[in-house]
Amino acid sequence: MSAEITSLAQLRAAEAACTRCPLYQDATQVVPGEGAAGARIMLVGEQPGDQEDLQGHPFVGPAGRVLDRALGDAGIARAETFVTNAVRHFKFEQRGKRRLHKKPNAYEIERCKWWLDIERALVKPQVVVAMGATAARSLLGRTVTIASMRGETFPLGDHARLAVTIHPSALLRIRDADDRERQYEGFVADLRRAAKLAHAA
Ligand code: URA
Repeated sequence: MSAEITSLAQLRAAEAACTRCPLYQDATQVVPGEGAAGARIMLVGEQPGDQEDLQGHPFVGPAGRVLDRALGDAGIARAETFVTNAVRHFKFEQRGKRRLHKKPNAYEIERCKWWLDIERALVKPQVVVAMGATAARSLLGRTVTIASMRGETFPLGDHARLAVTIHPSALLRIRDADDRERQYEGFVADLRRAAKLAHAA
């Protein structure tokens, strides 16, 4: 952990001044992780979306609504978790008036891991849930497929275990209603398993 950062408030202040990669230049603001200081579960997404960038809070847009519903269905109170992202600034491409999400690259993920590592050291969750390939890549330091890692947990080198699941925005892209429902149930089941593990630890 960085010698000077010993609280989440200090972390937020340091993140607000971040210039570790170029993404800070076009984003409205940094979006720090948010939640209970000693949360047993940390949920890690990819990067803030349009709404998160404007509001300064993680998962408050459409993907956040899916996440909130799934947490509710899994019997998990969001206020007891810590919700964060692998990358803290919104990366986008301007198309007319719209800002279209762009995937962060390996360099941006790697540079931002600095903040995620400090955050993990401060919150000390029992279980870290990587939602999507970007979060899994950040936490494992290599490219993985979600399908190959789902349903198992992996040690993270501290006391925490890593569980991998889909990103909630992936559910928003599924056109077929039955498939979407099936995938949603799988997402809820992954969250439920993570909560069980977090409370068993
Ligand atoms: N998608 C993410 O990965 N994170 C957010 O905060 C919002 C959408």
